[in-house]
Parts: sequence; structure tokens; C-alpha cells
Amino acid sequence: MRMRRKRNLEPRMQACGDLLLVRGRPCLNLKEAAENYRALLDLSAVFGEGKPVKLEVGCGNGGFLLELAAREPEVGFLAVEVCTNVILTAMERMRAKGLPNVRFLNIPAETLPCYIPSGSISEIYLNFSTPLPEKGCERQRLTSPRFLAIYRDILKENGRIYQKTDSAFFFDYSLEQFAANGFRVIACTRDLHHSAYAEGNIVTEYEANFLSQGKPICMAIAEKNLDFSCGMTVGRCEACKVLEG
Ligand SMILES: C[S@@+](CC[C@H](N)C(=O)[O-])C[C@H]1O[C@@H](n2cnc3c(N)ncnc32)[C@H](O)[C@@H]1O
Repeated sequence: MRMRRKRNLEPRMQACGDLLLVRGRPCLNLKEAAENYRALLDLSAVFGEGKPVKLEVGCGNGGFLLELAAREPEVGFLAVEVCTNVILTAMERMRAKGLPNVRFLNIPAETLPCYIPSGSISEIYLNFSTPLPEKGCERQRLTSPRFLAIYRDILKENGRIYQKTDSAFFFDYSLEQFAANGFRVIACTRDLHHSAYAEGNIVTEYEANFLSQGKPICMAIAEKNLDFSCGMTVGRCEACKVLEG
């Protein structure tokens, strides 16, 4: 079902302009943009010199980062969301809470290499990304090889991906892809809320919904494996360049 455009969308987006670092141009060819277009952000200027920066892909209404950014005021957070209607809600909630350490990118994750410098991110969060089990949709899954190549590129050495999902199918797929695309799974559970990892977990909007249906939540932490060469799938992989001399 198509979501109805929010009332006064444009003026409200403009009112949040100071929180919004990038608004992607829908006319960009995604492959072309990811490979050729560069408007890299100066993250030290955004958050302050030397601050760690963490990024959530598909932030939805922003509930997860609202909580995490309050818990970790010394960290800068980037919230990435392709849907303008949705990111507007997240930005308005952030404004109401007055957190200074979150900025937003209204872009498809496919174009992250256009804006995020290589080796600049310490953690990436993938919370309840759409599983897309249908045949022919693999490329769109946010843990498919082309996205993992992008995450490898923007993550620091030993940078980590934190994934949560209710879909056993998507979880199995992701674990396979992490192993095949330069990540080491360092933590993994198929029932987060009855595991040692439950403490400190921030329940996202989608997670609350799945929990109310009694569904177990799968969680994995995958660390960038430096002993891996990716074949330069996004055109610039500093880690691989170093390994390949
Ligand atoms: C199922 S929702 C989960 C929202 C939130 N993370 C949560 O756990 O409550 C997935 C979100 O990812 C966004 N999304 C899907 N594909 C994306 C992409 N390629 N780039 C950026 N955002 C994307 C969708 O618009 C949607 O808001």
C-alpha cells in the first residue's frame, strides 16, 4: 500500500533543514551515483574532531536512535532513511527531544559511498530491514553482497554491523553473506529476548510489534574481517587496497 504524502511535507522538511545533511536526488541513477558521484561529508565538522560516528540504515520513525543517542552523548549518529515521509517523523521527534548528536540522510543506502568517507564509521545498525524473500529481490536486501561491500568500505578497521530481524529466512541469508563478504560473526542468537544480549537492548518500533505477536528476534554482530579482499565492488575499498599493496 502506498503511504499518503504527509501534510505540508516540504515546509516541514525545510524546518528540519539543520538536522538533514543530505536529501538524495531521486533522478540519480543509483549504480552510476554510487560509482561516480562524490559529495563526501566532513564528519569532524558535523560532530566534532575525533568523535566516533555510528550509522543506522533504515531508521524508520527514529525510535532506536532517539534512545541510543541519549545513552551515548559522546557519539555522533547518522540516520539513513530512503522514505521522506518517514524520515520527517524521525527528525521532528529528534527536534522535540533536543538531542544534538544525530543527523539525517534522506537517501537510499545504495548511495552511501557518495557521502560517507571510507573508514569513517565505527558501527552500522540494521534493524528489521525488509527481508524481501521473493526471488529476484536479493539485490535489494540490505545484507546482499553489494551492500556489504559498501559497509566494508565505510566501516573503520574492526567496525561492526549490528543486525536484528524477526525473519529466520533473512537471518540465515545474512549470516551466509557476512561470512562470504568479509565479516566475522562474533555474536549471534535466534532469541534475543531470552539471551545474554537482552540486557541494554533498545526495542525498535518494528521489534515491539513482532514481540507483541510472540515472535522471537534474531540478532547478530558481524565484525569487519581485515583478512579479506572484496574485488573493489564499489570502486574504492581502502582496506583492500592496503592488503593488495
Ligand atoms: C521495516 S522498516 C524498520 C524501521 C526501524 N528500523 C524499526 O526497526 O522500527 C525498514 C525501513 O528501512 C527503510 N529502507 C528500506 N530500504 C532502504 C534503503 N535501500 N535505503 C534506506 N532506507 C531503506 C524503509 O523505508 C523503512 O523505513
